[in-house]
Amino acid sequence: MLDEKIGFIGGGNMAFAIGSGLINRGIIKTDQVLVSGPTLEHLQRWRDLGVATTNDNNQVVDKMDTIFICVKPHILKPCAEELKRNHRPSSKDKDKVFVSVLAGVNLKDLEASFSFIDNLKMIRCMPNTPMQVSEGCTVYSSGSHVVEHDLEKVHIMLNSLGIAQHIPESMINAVSGLSGCGPAFVYTIIEALADGAVKNGVPRQMALQLAVQVVLGAAKTVMITGKHPAILRDEVCSPGGATIVGVHELEKGNLRATLMNAVELSSKRCADLGSDEGSMIQILNSATDVYNFIETLEQIFVMDNWKTSRRSKR
Ligand SMILES: NC(=O)c1ccc[n+]([C@@H]2O[C@H](COP(=O)([O-])OP(=O)(O)OC[C@H]3O[C@@H](n4cnc5c(N)ncnc54)[C@H](OP(=O)(O)O)[C@@H]3O)[C@@H](O)[C@H]2O)c1
Repeated sequence: MLDEKIGFIGGGNMAFAIGSGLINRGIIKTDQVLVSGPTLEHLQRWRDLGVATTNDNNQVVDKMDTIFICVKPHILKPCAEELKRNHRPSSKDKDKVFVSVLAGVNLKDLEASFSFIDNLKMIRCMPNTPMQVSEGCTVYSSGSHVVEHDLEKVHIMLNSLGIAQHIPESMINAVSGLSGCGPAFVYTIIEALADGAVKNGVPRQMALQLAVQVVLGAAKTVMITGKHPAILRDEVCSPGGATIVGVHELEKGNLRATLMNAVELSSKRCADLGSDEGSMIQILNSATDVYNFIETLEQIFVMDNWKTSRRSKR
């Protein structure tokens, strides 16, 4: 158990994976955690866990020892500016450790955004959501004032939720498309495998359970035997057998090239997210969501009026 007060600025999916993972593993207790976000209703799942929530980010910075920054990259600047405006400097500031999970935002920009903290200790990490079940993989790099003791503490937290590795910052973006985004690729593969069995008449629930076990079993076999995946694949593909026919279909469908492209492009996108241009795309995407929502409301409204006028005509 860590004797540490842990804060989260932004209580969304990534923060919850880390926070709930640490609590479920018994690394910290619920009363050691404080989470902030602009809309308290969105933090209900934290309160269901027994964790305190607030809509004041400054409380997290003031009260906690290790602070995970878990907002979207384009929110970093406004969020840090608001913190800077309201921050009351304290002698404890120099001991606090900040851990950013933001895709694409480099240590230089993180340190510039939080330069109002004396002796700022910033760690940049790329985690993933399977941390919620202690099977995550995280890479991290440290900023200027981080000392060995800080790294050890953060390593214990991240490594307790899967595996964690300290790497040079120059590698983080390249790794992000695999470790950060990879779970989504594998979920898609699991779903597709299950659909294949459903197409053969297997009940959906059973198909999904089998697909999950197949992926888990294959991953564990690679991990425990240490054999190269190609050798393990050869062991399943008997000459003239059923598996090689399926593997041939995967090759025809370009599965390997598609997965390589997915990792490469997602990594590139991670790097872009930290740039001003990337932030602008995110803001435009949010604006498009709002626009689509308003358009849907308009359609419902028009439809309702149409139905009402038809009823009144009858
Ligand atoms: N999800 C992943 O698999 C993954 C993997 C690696 C890294 N990351 C990184 O994790 C970060 C968060 O991603 P996510 O997937 O967790 O997104 P998310 O679920 O949308 O969470 C973002 C959270 O930030 C909150 N927020 C918005 N403005 C804020 C402000 N001014 N102050 C404090 N909180 C604020 C949001 O609250 P409201 O809902 O109330 O607006 C939301 O809870 C991103 O930077 C991403 O690059 C995510």
